[in-house]
Amino acid sequence: MSRRRTIWALAAAAVLAMSVLAACGDDDDSGDGGSGDSGGGDKPKVAVLLPDSKSSVRWETVDRPLLQKALEDGGVEATITNAEGDKSTQQQQAEQAITNGAKVILLVNLDSGSGAAIAANAKSQGVKVIDYDRLTLDTDANDYYVSFDNTEVGRLQGEGLVKCVGDKPDAQIAVLNGSPTDNNATLFKNGYDSVINKKFDSGDWTEVDDQSVPDWDNQKALTIFEQILQKADNKVDGVLAANDGLGNAAISALKQRKLPQIPVTGQDATLEGIQNIVNGDQCMTVYKAIEKEAQAAADLAIALAKGDAVEADTVPIDNGTHKVPSILEKPVPVTKDNIAEYFGNPDYPTKEDICAGKVAANCDKLGL
Ligand code: BGC
Repeated sequence: MSRRRTIWALAAAAVLAMSVLAACGDDDDSGDGGSGDSGGGDKPKVAVLLPDSKSSVRWETVDRPLLQKALEDGGVEATITNAEGDKSTQQQQAEQAITNGAKVILLVNLDSGSGAAIAANAKSQGVKVIDYDRLTLDTDANDYYVSFDNTEVGRLQGEGLVKCVGDKPDAQIAVLNGSPTDNNATLFKNGYDSVINKKFDSGDWTEVDDQSVPDWDNQKALTIFEQILQKADNKVDGVLAANDGLGNAAISALKQRKLPQIPVTGQDATLEGIQNIVNGDQCMTVYKAIEKEAQAAADLAIALAKGDAVEADTVPIDNGTHKVPSILEKPVPVTKDNIAEYFGNPDYPTKEDICAGKVAANCDKLGL
């Protein structure tokens, strides 16, 4: 709570400071033709390229403000753009950033091919590239990678589903994977498959379907899950969904058919995901402390942009071409039993937002 307040207070102070500066600037401009320019434009520039705003609410609601703050606090000028799922838009945004003098690009790629092209172009112009959250495969042009232990994210999802399904005999399980073009989706799958394939192999569970959702598109996930239910005659007892958005699509399809609640997994600890847990529609999500991810990436970007030595401890991750120095943060599972544990973190929904309106009664039942 107090941490969140501090962030808001800092944000308010920053806005105030900016308006004061802006006012001074106006005075300067009209007074002496701008010779008093104190050089705000001299700050080294860092560009952040976000992927979209629909595959997960995290990019715009959590990553953007935290990256903006961390970068500006570190004394660099941050420009954050969002490609809205369009690879050529992202390519143009990268080119524009380089033209505008960016020294470092923080890239969330839309697939490895387009990411590698952006990185190669940046490298040829002396611009450093940090893969943010998603590793770009098969290129030597990415300098760093900052993310979470994504195989562990998947393992937590698999374990969460095993716990939630319990000892239900011959449980019918459906799997909704993330985008096949996202290396993270592969890592998540490696993680959960290492847990749930044992259940399929032993015959405890039956896999009714296993489908990938192109671009993590929630609308496509709804259609895909509708078809899974149709084909399975509505007999699905649990869903391994790779993030909260896909989980919510499955939950919507179940509701449309007035089917009972079944265990559904997720990821990102979004407001919707946690509300689904409070309401009993979802059994778990994975909370990734994006504040730490954003700060680690910003610290690297700031050092690189200023030409300072990088002090971070990194681990080498092979992207198929070279070992990328990487920083991986730790994910944790969230179920109805530990929702309150992360209240107050700036990358986690507030209790007020979670327990608003119709959800309030269920929050009461959980003692929230
Ligand atoms: C991220 C997830 C996110 C998904 C869809 C993945 O690369 O790690 O946090 O839910 O993309 O945007």
